[in-house]
Amino acid sequence: MEKLEFHNKVILAPMVRICGLPTRLLALRYGADIVYCEEIIDFKILAAERRVNDLIGTIDYVLTDETIVFRTCPELEKKKLVFQLGTSDAERALKAAKKM
Ligand SMILES: Cc1cc2nc3c(=O)[nH]c(=O)nc-3n(C[C@H](O)[C@H](O)[C@H](O)COP(=O)(O)O)c2cc1C
Repeated sequence: MEKLEFHNKVILAPMVRICGLPTRLLALRYGADIVYCEEIIDFKILAAERRVNDLIGTIDYVLTDETIVFRTCPELEKKKLVFQLGTSDAERALKAAKKM
């Protein structure tokens, strides 16, 4: 994994319920160098199915009721996105991280 350089960068802070894909893409369009996603808890990632969405060029993490818990657009966000994983258990967090 490549390291992100944080020095002298414009960064969109993580904000729960705000930093979904549309906000992150707008921030990138208007000059952000790095964008954080909202905090997402490990249980949600573990419960979700990872789907490649060729129609709109995203990777989606979708629950059985079709709720999208996380959506990223690799073409626009790769090497600029920080995923913030919420957890209270290191092993569970590792399992979730390996699903990303
Ligand atoms: C609505 C809202 C949601 C936030 N959600 C998160 C979050 O999910 N994770 C996190 O680490 N910080 C979260 N924060 C904290 C912000 O990332 C940021 O650290 C804080 O607003 C201070 O930023 P400032 O020093 O630029 O004012 C949130 C802040 C706000 C206002």
